[in-house]
Amino acid sequence: MTTNNKPGFPEGFLWGGAIAANQAEGAYLEDGKGLSTADVMPDGVMREIKEESNEMNLYHKAIDFYHHYEEDIALFAEMGFKTFRTSIAWTRIFPYGDELEPNEKGLQFYDDLFDELIKHGIEPVVTLSHYETPLHLVKSYGGWKSRKLIDFFTRYVEVVFHRYKDKVKYWMGFNEINNIHNIPTAAGGITIKENEDRLQAIFQASHHLFVASAVATKRCHEIIPDAKMGAMLSLSGIYPNTCHPDDVFEAYELRRRSLFFSDVLLRGYYPNYVQRIWRENNIKLDIEQNDLALLEKYTADYLGFSYYRTTTYKAGTTTFGNTGGLVGTDNPYLETTPWGWQIDSKGLRYVLNELYDRYQKPLFIVENGLGTNDKLENGEINDDYRINYVRDHIKEMKEAIIDGVDLMGYTYWGPIDIVSAGTGEMKKRYGFIHVDRDNDGNGTLERKKKKSFNWYKKVISSNGKDLE
Ligand code: BG6
Repeated sequence: MTTNNKPGFPEGFLWGGAIAANQAEGAYLEDGKGLSTADVMPDGVMREIKEESNEMNLYHKAIDFYHHYEEDIALFAEMGFKTFRTSIAWTRIFPYGDELEPNEKGLQFYDDLFDELIKHGIEPVVTLSHYETPLHLVKSYGGWKSRKLIDFFTRYVEVVFHRYKDKVKYWMGFNEINNIHNIPTAAGGITIKENEDRLQAIFQASHHLFVASAVATKRCHEIIPDAKMGAMLSLSGIYPNTCHPDDVFEAYELRRRSLFFSDVLLRGYYPNYVQRIWRENNIKLDIEQNDLALLEKYTADYLGFSYYRTTTYKAGTTTFGNTGGLVGTDNPYLETTPWGWQIDSKGLRYVLNELYDRYQKPLFIVENGLGTNDKLENGEINDDYRINYVRDHIKEMKEAIIDGVDLMGYTYWGPIDIVSAGTGEMKKRYGFIHVDRDNDGNGTLERKKKKSFNWYKKVISSNGKDLE
């Protein structure tokens, strides 16, 4: 039994921020790096691969974190970050994905990056695959539709576990793994042809991702016994559009479409409800003999998830998803950002309780934030709207902790402006730190603190007590 019912955040709560390699590093071909899916999707993860495109691709340079990380980490340290989440670009380590030997320069980059964090007392949290699969694996093997990727991924994770075993103790597998339904190329490294059976492809690739996650957990615990391996899902909330039983039940089923992924990764087996989906859609999975035993034995230690908003769902409508969650009907009780995301801090308390009731494993909010336009006025950015957003969400986190939820930490998404995953833009900004770069790729890349910078610093130094 956990007895964490004291008001307030527990000691050692992991406050910090989160980014992903492909949205921040730039240097997309430097030091031997190979191409990943993210490098050839200039319009963002929701669109398709455009290999020969001449379009502006902001990811190629991004905010050049590859060369600016020392300066950026110093700013994170100034805010008092306890932790920092980033991802390793698989293609820096294995440029094609199927080589036998890793790329030393790529390994060295992350050594330097993790050393810099540790020097400042910041604990690295590392996602092994954040919306980028080596392009060669997608083109030559069909991405995660192929079982071979389990072996390539295992080779990659073994290399990084051995290399960083003294530096990194918090790991996560596939970013927003459940988004394979909505953005299969980004989240699952697969492309689906016009006449292909979409659900068959998605469930087969998911099975491979599940087995790869279990093997990664196994190897992580063997190589770094004091490390924790988490699952990572997109779990912005879903509400029924009305109290009509059809709306309520269909919203429930839609939610289960996401929770299916954490059900497998945290409980260690396929839930009964998926059998009906497979049967009715004539889905036949290739599951090898030892797979189910692996899933059962090597479950995730914690659940990392992103939460940005809630979606309201009306029965019988089709819905599609983007980076922040699903797109549904309008909720008249909530405010909406210029990008159409409905802000719902109470929804975070709801989701935290929902997830903890379901799994009783530690939860980690590894993404939450406000992406919007910022205005530079008289050399300053007074982003009170961002402060309000974060304050409201932190208040609800605190309530959830008092409700009894075991919450490990909070890494704000995009503590420094980066390229948007959903749209490939710079102008959808999340940062407490502004970066001088615009949608056309112009700018000096100079970093500048916004008003929210000092506010978040105060939140961390007071361990979430001072939110004014
Ligand atoms: C999450 C992704 O879905 O949402 C991030 O894991 C992404 O990569 C974040 O950046 C916010 O989405 P967007 O589209 O505003 O960048």
